[in-house]
Amino acid sequence: MTEQRSSDARFRTSLLEENEGPAINPTDNRTMGEIIAARFSRRGFLKGSLAVSAIAATVSPLAMIAADDARAAEGSAFKFDELEAGIDDKHHVAPGYDADVLLRWGDPLFADSPEFDPTKQSAEAQAKQFGYNNDYVGYIPIQGSAEHGLLVVNHEYTNPHLMFPGIVKIVEKDGKKAAEVAPLSKEQVDVEMAAHGGTIVEIRKVSGKWQVVRDGKLNRRITSNTEMALSGPVAGHDRVKTNADPSGTKVLGTVNNCAGGVTPWGTYVMAEENIHGYFSGELPEGHQESANYKRLGIPEGAYEWGAHYDRFNLAKEPNEPNRFGWIVEVDVDDPNSTPKKRTAMGRFKHEGAESIVAKDGRVVFYLGDDERFDYVYKFVTKGTFNASDRLANKDLLDDGTLHVAKFAEDGTVEWLPIVFGQGPLTAENGFAGQADVLIETRRAADLLGATKMDRPEDIQPNAVNGKVYVMLTNNSKRKGDQVDAANPRAANAFGHIIEISESDGDFAATKGKWEVLLKCGDHSVADVGATFSTATTANGWFGMPDNCAVDSAGRLWVATDGQGPEATGRTDGLWAVDTEGAARATSKLFFRVPIGAEMCGPLFSPDDQTAFVAVQHPGDGGEDWEAFGRPSYYEDPSTRWPDFKPDMPVRPAVVAITKQGGGKIAV
Ligand code: FEO
Ligand code: CA
Ligand code: CA
Ligand code: CA
Repeated sequence: MTEQRSSDARFRTSLLEENEGPAINPTDNRTMGEIIAARFSRRGFLKGSLAVSAIAATVSPLAMIAADDARAAEGSAFKFDELEAGIDDKHHVAPGYDADVLLRWGDPLFADSPEFDPTKQSAEAQAKQFGYNNDYVGYIPIQGSAEHGLLVVNHEYTNPHLMFPGIVKIVEKDGKKAAEVAPLSKEQVDVEMAAHGGTIVEIRKVSGKWQVVRDGKLNRRITSNTEMALSGPVAGHDRVKTNADPSGTKVLGTVNNCAGGVTPWGTYVMAEENIHGYFSGELPEGHQESANYKRLGIPEGAYEWGAHYDRFNLAKEPNEPNRFGWIVEVDVDDPNSTPKKRTAMGRFKHEGAESIVAKDGRVVFYLGDDERFDYVYKFVTKGTFNASDRLANKDLLDDGTLHVAKFAEDGTVEWLPIVFGQGPLTAENGFAGQADVLIETRRAADLLGATKMDRPEDIQPNAVNGKVYVMLTNNSKRKGDQVDAANPRAANAFGHIIEISESDGDFAATKGKWEVLLKCGDHSVADVGATFSTATTANGWFGMPDNCAVDSAGRLWVATDGQGPEATGRTDGLWAVDTEGAARATSKLFFRVPIGAEMCGPLFSPDDQTAFVAVQHPGDGGEDWEAFGRPSYYEDPSTRWPDFKPDMPVRPAVVAITKQGGGKIAV
């Protein structure tokens, strides 16, 4: 019972974001992009700064001249003094702004919630407290207010080595310190399950500062044990029936809720992303779901839930994984409502679900499938949005058409309908109806010839300029002969952003145009091939775009995931990116996270006076940070953000950023 596992096995939970899934080139060769990325760390160690000169051999003279020009140029339309990029154990915001911690892992959400005690955490306490690893942040106004509303927050996953005392042992491995993590007890697994899901919490701005309304009557925790309904075309299908649910309509819980959205009718949608990690065990020999699960990397077995709960063990419940990988809709107006998994929107590793009302009133959801070489989707409702009757929109998400994007070399994009009976989506290809097509959305999109992308993350429609922004994080596995116009870099270490203009400005259109807004990375290093404007400073460039937001002026803000000492010599953060006029592709750093964290959220309040950001997995890592240089875990974390108290672990938290003295952000 005291068997210790290697750190590699357990720390994979924290590496799930890497999405080293199936359908991917299996070689481990170090790519050019990785070699370039590694240079940044060496530069940092050698010079202790972000100076360009340390790698002069790879800096193009043109870029150097351009950098000089940039200093003189007026640059960005965002009015704030840029923050300096770097790495330490704290968060930092641009001068003149306050960044106040609003909600931390373990914070009480109800009048009867126990105070957080990390040494005595229980599932019961956790289910009444703010969950772990905050990701998506949404705001639903109460009576139209920009200063009083419901904050909805996803809790994507758990990091047991940072959550639980006494489970990590440091050993010597290959001459280096390594962490070994003990198996979790059932009680700890139960805490993990209660720390997943989402939070709905009333917040109010009082004297310029946001406060949590602890006894808000709509406050709610959603967890991996909340009863949910399967709705839409897959509900009741044989492939989603289990011993516990012979009806195929009731699911217990949601997992790995990454980004999401708030619908025009004020419901909260949560995207189920890396579902493969939660399942373990083996399918019975020759099982019909083998190929389906392989395409999603199921089972990955990073979590131990299957040891305690049959539904996460494939040998016992072979159909259970088909009940995950969906978009979940929550009616926040009724804290007892049953969340619905909207199967019409497809099943894959859903990153997010941002939406907009099209010209004719249909509602369009942009959906990314975050895996190397997977796809960009959009769902168009059949019915139209009713602005005067909220309940009339109740089941809009059960009927509509899912499309997948094909990006052509000539700068056009076609949205291919994923509809049973059309094109290759037929019985000959193993689909008996639309339910099969939706359960195996990836295979359907493969057959349609969709464009294989460099990890599609958040996709944001912009109501102000009519464009759609697609974040593509990276894809170190793309080879030279796999490059295409929409994924233009081999070994894409730093990612890029695509801008789509739908035909006639109609978000429901089946055709549009696209261009690359930005290839990311250090634009002063010629080999990187980044395309930030020359007005972008050495602090202003970034890599690995992940989440994004537009403020009400239609300006783009990009949050990153995956930077750090080795990758880019800077932590993740929030950058303001110009998309219009001469300043297009100019970027400025506004906020950065402590070591080990990624930047999630972001979200602007309806009056643009607050930027909410989610600091996810702070302290997860630090071996490659010169100032720490060893495994980070509960007793010895690389940061104790945000409390910095010796008896308090590092905690993921949502931060509210406001301008000192009030006013809109960056105006
Ligand atoms: Fe959960 Fe794709 O980030
Ligand atoms: Ca993300
Ligand atoms: Ca977003
Ligand atoms: Ca991410």
